[in-house]
Amino acid sequence: MSLFDWLIVHGLPIVPKPIVRRVASRYVAGETLDAALATVEKLAAEGAMATLDLLGEEVRDSGRAETNTEAYEAMLAAIAQRGLTANVSLKLSALGLKVDEELCRGNLERILAAARQHGNFVRIDMEDASSTEATLHIYRDLQARHSNVGVVLQAYLRRTLPDIDALPRVGANVRICKGIYIERRAVAYKAYETVRLNYLRALEKLLARGVYVGIATHDDHLICGALALVDRLRVPRERYEFQMLLGVEPELRRVLLAAGHRLRVYVPYGRDWYPYSVRRLRENPKIARHVARAMFTGS
Ligand code: FDA
Repeated sequence: MSLFDWLIVHGLPIVPKPIVRRVASRYVAGETLDAALATVEKLAAEGAMATLDLLGEEVRDSGRAETNTEAYEAMLAAIAQRGLTANVSLKLSALGLKVDEELCRGNLERILAAARQHGNFVRIDMEDASSTEATLHIYRDLQARHSNVGVVLQAYLRRTLPDIDALPRVGANVRICKGIYIERRAVAYKAYETVRLNYLRALEKLLARGVYVGIATHDDHLICGALALVDRLRVPRERYEFQMLLGVEPELRRVLLAAGHRLRVYVPYGRDWYPYSVRRLRENPKIARHVARAMFTGS
């Protein structure tokens, strides 16, 4: 990362919000469910599936957790009503995990029931390492009673390979990603190549165990490795899908779709767009150029 990029990444908190919003607009479908559904329709025209995420994590009160739960119930009903090929992704902290674990579990059960009613599926996103244990515990518990739930594992975590051993024997459904939060070295691999190595080891282990895998990455090195693995292990195409984020590497997305792979795009929306946008901007290799252009030219 150049010095200029580094300065922009670390200076993001003081970049005016309207500028962050403009530069980050490619990563967020809009503020409303209607805007998100319109994006899902555009993706469907390309041949891509979607997963909808309501932005807004880490709620501190049960009222907000209730509002989020109702929003997910409405989302699932709207997806069914429009006949879209989309499921939902959610963060347990948005359902009250940090307020009360039982409250969170109850809210998730309601969303799972709504999803089942509409023949749909719910993916539990993985948050920072302070939530990993509780998230996997809740996942394992609910997966025993609901077949329409999946979880996420992060390749940067040292615990991920053992966590694969503890997945349910039947019907596990896992998205594997590198991991986005800033973690301590005690719990996470820090070097780029080591995370890549662990990603491919985890993916191989998941595929070999017969787990349905969402291969979430825009890293061509990992996509190349994943394609080699599904070929070597003779994994049928209906046992995995590629997953990418809205606004990231659309060309790569089209390459995989053209080759006949299933591919799902993560479509976040909502009024709480700021923290998600900052995380995405920090990952953007051209961040400095984009932010500088928006600051100085208004485009
Ligand atoms: P990497 O970051 O190395 O990116 C590879 C290439 O992609 C870059 O060189 C660049 O060209 C391009 N790129 C990546 N990000 C970009 C950006 N923002 N803007 C422009 N170009 C970009 N994490 C987590 O901790 N918990 C979770 O639940 C999820 N869920 C999730 C779902 C899905 C569908 C995806 C794709 C990712 C996640 N993540 C996540 C995020 C994930 O952990 C990771 O941070 C990002 O996917 C970036 O990692 P890559 O594997 O793409 O590699």
